[in-house]
Amino acid sequence: MARNSSAPTGAPGASEERETSRKVGILASLWPFMKPYGPLVFGAIMALILTSGLSLTLPLAVRRVVDNFRTGSSEILDQYFLAALAIAGLLAIGTGLRYALVTKLGERVVADIRMAVFDRVIGMSPHFFEKIMTGEVLSRITTDTTLIQSVVGSSASIALRNLLIFVGGMVLMLLTSAKLTGMVLLIVPAVIVPILVLGRRLRVISRENQDWIAASSGNAGEALSAVQTVQAFTGETDSRAKFAELTETSYDVSRKRIRTRAFLTVIVIFLVFSGIVGVLWIGANDVRAGIMTEGTLVQFVIYSVLVSGAVAALSEIWSELQRAAGATERLVEMLNSIDSVQDPDAPQMLALPVRGEIAFDDVTFHYPSRPETAALNGISLNVAPGETVAFVGPSGAGKTTIIQMILRFYDPETGQIRLDGVPLTSLARDDFRKHIALVPQDPMIFASSAKENIRFGRPTATDAEVEAAAQAAAAHDFISALPDGYDSYLGERGVMLSGGQKQRIAIARAILRDAPVLLLDEATSALDAESERAVQHAVDQLSSDRTTLIVAHRLATVKKADRIVVMEEGQIVAQGTHDELVSGGGLYARLARLQFTDGVSPL
Ligand SMILES: Nc1ncnc2c1ncn2[C@@H]1O[C@H](COP(=O)(O)OP(=O)(O)OP(=O)(O)O)[C@@H](O)[C@H]1O
Ligand SMILES: [Mg+2]
Repeated sequence: MARNSSAPTGAPGASEERETSRKVGILASLWPFMKPYGPLVFGAIMALILTSGLSLTLPLAVRRVVDNFRTGSSEILDQYFLAALAIAGLLAIGTGLRYALVTKLGERVVADIRMAVFDRVIGMSPHFFEKIMTGEVLSRITTDTTLIQSVVGSSASIALRNLLIFVGGMVLMLLTSAKLTGMVLLIVPAVIVPILVLGRRLRVISRENQDWIAASSGNAGEALSAVQTVQAFTGETDSRAKFAELTETSYDVSRKRIRTRAFLTVIVIFLVFSGIVGVLWIGANDVRAGIMTEGTLVQFVIYSVLVSGAVAALSEIWSELQRAAGATERLVEMLNSIDSVQDPDAPQMLALPVRGEIAFDDVTFHYPSRPETAALNGISLNVAPGETVAFVGPSGAGKTTIIQMILRFYDPETGQIRLDGVPLTSLARDDFRKHIALVPQDPMIFASSAKENIRFGRPTATDAEVEAAAQAAAAHDFISALPDGYDSYLGERGVMLSGGQKQRIAIARAILRDAPVLLLDEATSALDAESERAVQHAVDQLSSDRTTLIVAHRLATVKKADRIVVMEEGQIVAQGTHDELVSGGGLYARLARLQFTDGVSPL
């Protein structure tokens, strides 16, 4: 992502002109979110038209009053004042109504946008998260949407009201005095040009500002989630400095924004008011010469104040719209980002019950972020239903990658992966992942209770089933010893558990899922010998009637597997049973010699 700190300069050319309109036009992509609330939008616009219309009738009344000071009877005067009171009442009610409708619309739309972004992001494949930090995503969901909220929930309606007052006011000015209006119109281009030029700059700066805010959130999020590592390596000072730098940069950019906007305000207000003063001067001379009544001049002045107030408000709001356009652009980008893994339009259905046959057909795969080295290189493998296959090999050999491919977190470049004979690419991911239970290499614990964490494997499971799964995973004893037993809160990412305890919760979760395919990636690596034996027993039982893929460094864990696959540098270099592989020599025999005999004597 481009975090360009230098604001683009350069003369506004024709191409940039188009760019700007396209960019503020991006606010139109908010329309789908407003569409469902048509009646609300309609009501708000009606209230808006009512209040703007009423504001425009007031000067008429004022002229009558002024011109009737000397001539009219007191009765007429009373009537005018009563009418003014009625208008004020209507204006108050209309304004309140507009506020309520518009604010509600803003809150509603932003809530929908937040949900839409989250809905989109939670389903993205891992490649998406390699490019963006989660803190950044959160910042988009919170701060960027807040900008949009201010647009939909107030700025847009203020803009519309001022637009109505501007147009209506101009027309009424024209009717009041064509000559003076003509003079006012001469000033308008002088006001519009700086608004357009500076406004374009503001939009660029605004997006930049939001980017820096997101970057600093991403940075803080990462540091906080790894706070112990940061502290253990005494990295707090660096962390603080890095965060301060990002935050200060975002402040610097916002200062640029504030300066530009302040400058814009100065220019606009000065031009508008000097224009009014000039016009007034001419008008005053006309009144003295008897060409115009005092009332008409007063009416004209009030209209021109209304109109110029509208212009000033519009210029301010214009810059806010630019800000929101920057935010919308980012959100829309996120909403429209194309996932590297896509479900087919017409997914096939797996025949139930799923047998759990897995086939790799000459699969070659490079991680998108590392295209030069093959993580998997020509892998062909058939795992029969119910078979237990173990994967061993040096770190970085591609064992975890195999597991990720079975879950279709990534698609292979060449070759195919099939479950029960159906290519994964022809299935909906939700549909086939239901039949797979995973114990990942670094087990994830959610910030909830032990019970809820295990139940994540199958949300419909009863308490008794959860407990049975925990028993099987040798987790029951330690969970029962926690202060609140199964209801104990485990902390964010399970900070209140030991590594081995986290693993056993993750295993219990997979056991509870009771799926025909079981994937264990170093599932017992952090367990003591006794717990490992207990878990191993459970795994043996589980694997007897389902397809099981086990990744392990400790060969003792895999000895009993039906087949052992030895991997190296993304390739399968050997496969067979433990005994076959040991007698065959090669990598496995070497590993076995090291592990079982300390490497000193032959096996
Ligand atoms: N998300 C990723 N983006 C780019 N490269 C990756 C990614 N994940 C893994 N790799 C690389 O792919 C290769 C295979 O990684 P993999 O995680 O499959 O190894 P492994 O056999 O599971 O190793 P270990 O035993 O250490 O867990 C490694 O070289 C690794 O650096
Ligand atoms: Mg691994």
